[in-house]
Formats: sequence, C-alpha cells, structure tokens
Amino acid sequence: MSISTQSYQSATSAPSNIAIVKYWGKKGIQEPVNPSISFTLSKALTKTAVSYQPGDAPLNIEFLFEGLTKPDFLPKLQTLSDRLKAFLPFLNSGRLKIESSNTFPHSSGIASSASSMASIAKALLAIQKQLDTSQLPDDYRQMLSEMARLGSGSACRSTISGWVLWGETLALPEASNKYGLSINQQVHDSFNDLQDTILVIRKGSKAVSSSLGHELMTHHPYRQGRIEQANKNTIALLKALKDGDFKAFAQICEEEALSLHGLMMSSSPGYTLMAPESLRAIKRIVKFREHQHIPVTYTLDAGPNIHLIYPKSQSKVMLPFIEEHLRPLCDNQEVIYDEISID
Ligand code: PMV
Repeated sequence: MSISTQSYQSATSAPSNIAIVKYWGKKGIQEPVNPSISFTLSKALTKTAVSYQPGDAPLNIEFLFEGLTKPDFLPKLQTLSDRLKAFLPFLNSGRLKIESSNTFPHSSGIASSASSMASIAKALLAIQKQLDTSQLPDDYRQMLSEMARLGSGSACRSTISGWVLWGETLALPEASNKYGLSINQQVHDSFNDLQDTILVIRKGSKAVSSSLGHELMTHHPYRQGRIEQANKNTIALLKALKDGDFKAFAQICEEEALSLHGLMMSSSPGYTLMAPESLRAIKRIVKFREHQHIPVTYTLDAGPNIHLIYPKSQSKVMLPFIEEHLRPLCDNQEVIYDEISID
C-alpha cells in the first residue's frame, strides 16, 4: 500500500474544572461509582497541537510537554489511543505527535489531567474530521466528552463549559456514566459568575495520585456510605443551584471536600493530604464568613491546595482578605485567580 506524504495538523485548548460533588472511585473502563458536579474554569487551559502522518505501521506516538519529551506520559496516551480507535479509526496506524502546554503553573492544585485529556481528545477529533467525517455522528459533543473520559474521568466535564453533571443520578434520567451533561439551563443566574481563587498551599506533585485514590475506594470500609452521600449531595446540589441558594451550596461544597479528605485518611493505608496551612486557611475563611456574612465557600481536590469560591459581586470584599490573610499561607505566596467559563 502506498504511504501518503500528506500530514494533518490540529491545535486546540481545553480548560480545567473544579468538582463540587467529587468523583471518587471508579468501575469498568473509567466509569464513576457516583455522580459528580463541577464547573469549568476559564483561564486554566491546556493547549494541544497534534500532527499526524498516515502510514501502515502500527501507531507510533511522540509526546512533548512544554517542549520536553515526557516518556512517563506515553503509557497513558497509548491506553487512550487504544480506547479511542473505536471512535477515531486513524489511530490504528501512522505517526502521531502530540505537544501540550498549560497556561497555569505545574502542580498548582489545578486538575491538569482534566484539561490535558480534554484538549488531546479535541485535537484528535479535529484530525479525524480532516481525514474522514463519515464515521462521526452529527452532534459529536457527547462523543467528545466520552472520548475525554477514556483518558481521565474528570476530563469528560472539561469539554463542556459552565456547570456539568457526570454520572447516573435519580435526579436526571438523561445523565450518564459515559459522558458529561451541561446543566447550565437548570442553574440560577447567581451561580453564573463564580470566582475560583486557588490558594497554592504546596507546589509540587501530589502525594497520592488520583488513580491510587480511586483504587483505594474499591475496598474502602465506607464505600457504600460514600456512594449514598454523593448521590444525596448531587440531588441537593442540583436543587441549590436551581434555587440560587448559596448557603446550601456552600454546605454541600465543604462537606464534599472534607469527606474526600476523610476517605483518604480512613483508607488502607491512610493518607493525610492537607498541610497545616490548608487547615489554617480553612479556619480563616470560615471565620471571615461568620464576621462578614458574605457568600464564600471553599473546596479541595485530593491535595493541600484550596479553591476559594464566591460570586463576582463579592470580589471587592474578598480581594483584600485574600491578599492580606490567605496569600501569606501559600507556597511562594502563590494565588491564582480564575473563574467559571460560561459560553
Ligand atoms: O479524573 P481523575 O481520575 O484525575 O479524578 C479526579 C478526582 C477528583 O479531582 C478528586 C474529583 C473530581 O471529581 O474531579
């Protein structure tokens, strides 16, 4: 068979997201054991450029992150491309070069696997569109989210802007374990301008990868209770978002963050992922809220860094507090100001 000399290029980007109800524990191929709800960020992006050269030999992948070859990321990309062959037949053969970079600092507490897998899925889909669209559905947004999920679970929420629900729930029959669903239509306007200010308490790689965290849930003594809690919180959060009820929102947000850390502490072996400054920041945030009576809450992913969440209208009050009382708790005094992205 003749080998084409033509090569195909695509360049895309995708944002990270922050979960309010956390995905923690998986089954099958990257399906969640419980539903999760997040909002997508606007400034924390992964940019990806892909170049593809068709050929007969089995697919060869080269990966560069911020200009450097990253062999440790290759097995993940190999798994992703194997899983995506059913959607993107070109991944069976040829040479693929993927180059990614983040607009946010590495290991800053912003989920880079979500934005990177979402942007890679987008870039690969763009190549398939150039080669042959006959196998693609007319509306491929759902497929794109499903493809991103096969790279990293939370990435399926990053292909959609604003508020996203991922995972089956009694509250919404159309929700799926396979892809994220936009719930922007069901969200009160007051939740459409949320700020997410990230307090980088500790820079550096996470002590425990999310893959290990998910695995620890398989035989976790509180597994069943956690699944029930997440289902209950999903239903309650959907109601709080619809009603514009920040107080209920904040309660669920904090319960979910602390539960995630509690589950890590009570797994076998157990892990403490917060740093002393994380707890100090939480105490300062809660005290500030009690004194000022303003809508502000926080969440954490599986690490020490804090996401401070408040409506844009509160920025004037929040900024001096953050700069004076929270920035000094951060590693190298690093704070990242981000916000929800809504199309
Ligand atoms: O997508 P993963 O495998 O990196 O898991 C993400 C898990 C959390 O960030 C802790 C929660 C979530 O829902 O994003």
